[in-house]
This record gives sequence, C-alpha cells and structure tokens, in this order.
Amino acid sequence: MGDSFTTWNTDKATALYGVDAWSSDYFSIADDGDLHVHLNDETSGEKATASLPKIIEGIRERGLDTPILLRFHDLLAERISQLNNAFNSAIQETGYTGNYRGVYPIKVNQQQQVIDEITEFGKQYHYGLEAGSKPELLIALAHMHDPEAFIICNGYKDQEFIDLALQSLKMGLQTVLVIEMPSELDLILERSEALGIEPILGIRAKLSTCNNSHWSHSSGENSVFGLTTNQILNAVDVLKEKGKLHYLRLLHYHQGSQVPDIRAIRDAATEATRMYVELIREGAPMGLLDIGGGLGIDYDGSRSNSHSSRNYGIAEYAADIIDVTKTVCDEAGLAHPTIISESGRAISAYYSVLIFNILDVNSPSADASPNFVPEKLHPHLVKLAEVENYLTEKNIQECYNDAHYFRSEILSLFRHGNVSLRERAYSNALFTRIMSKISELADNMDDVPEELAENPPFLDVYYGNFSIFQSLPDAWAIDQLFPVMPIHRLNEKPTAKATLADITCDCDGRLDNFIINGEHQKHLPLHSLKDDEDYLVGVFLVGAYQETLGDLHNLLGDTNVVSIGINNGKVQYLRELAGDKISDVLSYVEYDPKNIVERFRQLAERSVEEGKITPAQRREFMNNFRENIEGYTYFESPNG
Ligand SMILES: Cc1ncc(COP(=O)(O)O)c(C=O)c1O
Repeated sequence: MGDSFTTWNTDKATALYGVDAWSSDYFSIADDGDLHVHLNDETSGEKATASLPKIIEGIRERGLDTPILLRFHDLLAERISQLNNAFNSAIQETGYTGNYRGVYPIKVNQQQQVIDEITEFGKQYHYGLEAGSKPELLIALAHMHDPEAFIICNGYKDQEFIDLALQSLKMGLQTVLVIEMPSELDLILERSEALGIEPILGIRAKLSTCNNSHWSHSSGENSVFGLTTNQILNAVDVLKEKGKLHYLRLLHYHQGSQVPDIRAIRDAATEATRMYVELIREGAPMGLLDIGGGLGIDYDGSRSNSHSSRNYGIAEYAADIIDVTKTVCDEAGLAHPTIISESGRAISAYYSVLIFNILDVNSPSADASPNFVPEKLHPHLVKLAEVENYLTEKNIQECYNDAHYFRSEILSLFRHGNVSLRERAYSNALFTRIMSKISELADNMDDVPEELAENPPFLDVYYGNFSIFQSLPDAWAIDQLFPVMPIHRLNEKPTAKATLADITCDCDGRLDNFIINGEHQKHLPLHSLKDDEDYLVGVFLVGAYQETLGDLHNLLGDTNVVSIGINNGKVQYLRELAGDKISDVLSYVEYDPKNIVERFRQLAERSVEEGKITPAQRREFMNNFRENIEGYTYFESPNG
C-alpha cells in the first residue's frame, strides 16, 4: 500500500470518488479541495466553473438552508444538445434520409421548471414531450406548441384522454395516440368519428428481445405493456376493414430503463425496424419509429454492462440506431423513418444534485476506552485481551476471527447470567479496540483478506440532514447506486470510513453502497467533523425519477431547491423554491395546522391554570411551537 495515502492530493480524491468516471466532465475537484461544477457562461458561451460549497454558502446567506437540491439548467441544455447532435451527426454521416425528433417523458421529472426548460432549450431541435397519463397530457398540451415536435401519448387512455389528444391535432399539434392495449383502438376510432378528427395512431409492440437491466421485465414478450404480433395484426385488420389504415403512422417499443448493453439495444432496434417494414408491407403509411427510453447513465463510472452503468456512449447509441434502421429499410427498399426516442434519465439525471450537511457522527471508537476495569474477568475476556496483544499484519484474519468468536461467546455468557454488565461493557471496549487496530493495519496493507476488504470492521455512522425516502427513493427501493462524495476539503485525506444514515428513524434510511477507487464498497471515506464548519456531502445524478417518487416518510418534506447558472463569470441564483414547511406536510396528511396550534394552546393554558407554568412561559412555549410549525421539516444548521 500505503504510499498511495501517505501524500494526499486532489488527484487522489478524484480517483477515490471516481469523479472523472461518472461526472461526464460536468464536475471536477479544484486545487483548494472544493468540488466545482462546469457550466456554459450565459453571456460568453465559454465553459466556466463554480465551487459547490461557495454556491451553498451564497444560498445560506440568502436565507435557505440545507438540505438543498441544486438544479443546473445548463446541464439539461447540454444533454439535449448532445443527444440531438449525436443523432444528427449519425444521420449526416450515413446519408440517412429521415429525421431525429426526441421527446422527454414527463414522468421522469414532472416539475414545471424542468418542463419549462426542456421545451425552451429543445425548441431549436423540435424536441417534444411524452405523456403517460391524463395530467401529463394536460402539461404537454400547455407547454408544447411547436407544430414540428411530437407529443407521444403512451399509457392507458380513456375517452377524455383521447378527446384531448384529438382536439390538439385540430390546433396543429402532432399528438400521437399510441395503442398500448387492443381495446383502445375501438374507442379511438369511435371518438375520432364523433369529433370528426383523424388521429395519428401508433402501436406499442412487445418485442422478443430482452435485456439484462434492472427493468428487463419491461422488455420481451412477457412484458405487461404493448401488443403481441397477433394483436398488432388484428389492429391492422380492423383498420384495413374500416378503410382507416392510413391512420397508422408510428411503431413504438420500450426496452426498459437503463439498458446497460449496446448489443441488446441493436437487437431490439433490428427487430422493431423489421416489424416497421412489415407494417408498411401491410399497407400502413408509417414514417415514425419510436425507440422508447433506455439510454443509460454511467452511475458507477465503470463503462461496463453492470446495472449501474452502460457499455456505450450517446454517440455510439445514436450511430447504432441509425445504422440498424438504415440497413433494414435499405434491404427492404423503403424510405428511412423519422426516429423518435423517449430518453428520460439520459437527459435529466445530471441536472440535479442533492447537498446535505452532516449533523453528527457515531463512532465505535467512543466505546474503546472504558473508564473502569471489572473486578473479576471471565477467562474469555482474558483471551479477548490477548488477541489485542498478538495482532499483527500476518495474522490479521485469525485475530479478526478470534475477536468475533470470544465476543459472541461473552454475549452468550451474559444471556445466561454468567458474566456481569461491567464485564460485557469491558468486552465491548476490547473488541472495538481490536477492530480499530485491524482497520488501521488493513489500511496499510496491499493484500487485505477478502472478508475484511468487503466488511471493514470499524465503520463510523455519519448522520446526514436528509431523507432517503424523500430525496433518493431509488436508493432505498431498488438499490440504485448514486455517486456520493464530500463537496469540500478534498485536498485533505479523508480519515474515516463511514456509512451514511439519514434522519428518518428507519433502519432502511441509510446509504451503504458506494464506488470507491472503482470498486463497490459498503463504506464511504469521509473527513472528521470540525466544530465551526458544516461538513457537506453531495449526491449526484438525481435529476431523473427521484423528485416525484419521493415520499413523506417521517413527514420529511420536499427540500429547498435552487437553480444555478453562471453569467459573466458570476454565479447566478436563478430560481428558489422553498421546501415544505411543517404546516405543509401536516396538511398533506389531513391535519389542520391551526387545529394543531389550538390543541397545543389548550395544553399550555391548562398548565397555567394548574400552576405548572407561568403565563409568560406559556407565551414563550406557544411562540416556539408556532415558529416550528412554520419552519423547515429538516434540521436547521447551527453553522448555516
Ligand atoms: C414508455 C417509456 N418511455 C420512456 C421511458 C424513459 O426511460 P429512460 O429514463 O430509461 O430513458 C420510460 C421509463 O421507464 C417509459 O416507460
């Protein structure tokens, strides 16, 4: 080992937290140890950087506290440009004759700011929206007025949904009704006739191609969405019979989100284009091939086909889709379709970063020095004490095993009444000291026994001022990995190994899956806390799915949100959205905040009557109660 940690510098921090691997050059560590974000300056258009801790300092000076969700609208614009440029380059290079028209699936981040920004930046590319429900369709119809962009309607549809889509066609929008279930066709035809408006119809196909993503159940013939080939042909026959086959313009498929392997993407595109060709042979005009979502993000920075990564980039994705579509259509002698993609996470994941402060640390080392020695020592305690004396690098695994053995024997003896509480506490201290020494030795070894490397014996718990259930629901629900790291002091060697707990009192409220030096680890290297400075940690790539999936576990509400840009070299605080107050979350769960105050007032008044408190104390307690009910649901920082 060892020497990689003897002299610390920011290059080592960059490697430790994998910044170059996951950040796509949007973040880097500056010499002063601050993590910087890279944005385009709004005036000069040149790349500029801003320090995340200084941004947070500026927000706190303006009155909002951590946890804070930072949004970088420039990164949204960058991603939209990258995706469009990748498809447009592939189209130009190959002589493909169709266009590319992306649509953003509203469900991935429905916040108005996101949809405003996507429709604004996307204008130049005629970037559209995908709606999977009636509320989402209403958002799309209110925000997307570009006649050259598409609004793709997926999901279950009732009469009202269909009427809205048809009426929008009358107003010049390109709203496509994608049939997800066979029964939808009759209703669409009925409503089209009743309103006298011809629909643009699409069909969602169940492909046979599967992939190995977490969402692989969305793909393959057993997926719950879309039509089987038989059902597609039935729909075609119904349309033919009614003389309406000219309505059918689009074929859609969705392989599932975060597809890690480019070969699965090629295979699905090939199968879908073959289906597209066959639909034209059946007599449908077609012209639109919608390849759904699935374009992955490299959360773990491994550029591999692991669930948290993908073995391709945006350019390769676009090139492969265009290549496959062109090849299959050329073979069939047919014109190239307009390609529509529904990329969600690839567009908005980088957009948001969650920053929270650490409230406290629970370190096992606090237990390592008891201020007493029990009067009698059970022989197992004597043996445990001996382990500490014979521990070396050479017998580290043996000592680890011995310490665990004697410790569990002592606990069992305690249960049977054969050792005292003081002996038990003393054994705790000895065990903790041994584990601490093992941890120190392991840090300096090149070849750490596997069990020790995977389960470091001595982890601190850092308590972060955030809720996993509100801000990182996928980390809890599906073990989604997100890059996590401190955003300052990165020029100092981190000395603690930690798991991160949130402030919900739930044992699932913790983060213990990190990528450290390119490897999966259950702990995160962090710095020791300073008394006069908040320690700030960032969780990155949280702009897709996290905000709206989050819930009110323990009634911890939405965090503060601040939108950041750079103009003329200066950080701009563009939009602020104060997070939920306690009164807000109480009303979400059917309490009336005024009634809550009144109930507390009754308790306080009774206490005055009974002489437990004075009227002046009542006023003080009531003020405190009222202040809290109008305050942030998270802890206010003493250093903030
Ligand atoms: C139909 C459909 N389109 C697009 C998407 C977006 O997928 P992604 O975020 O992987 O691009 C989804 C999400 O699963 C989806 O269900």
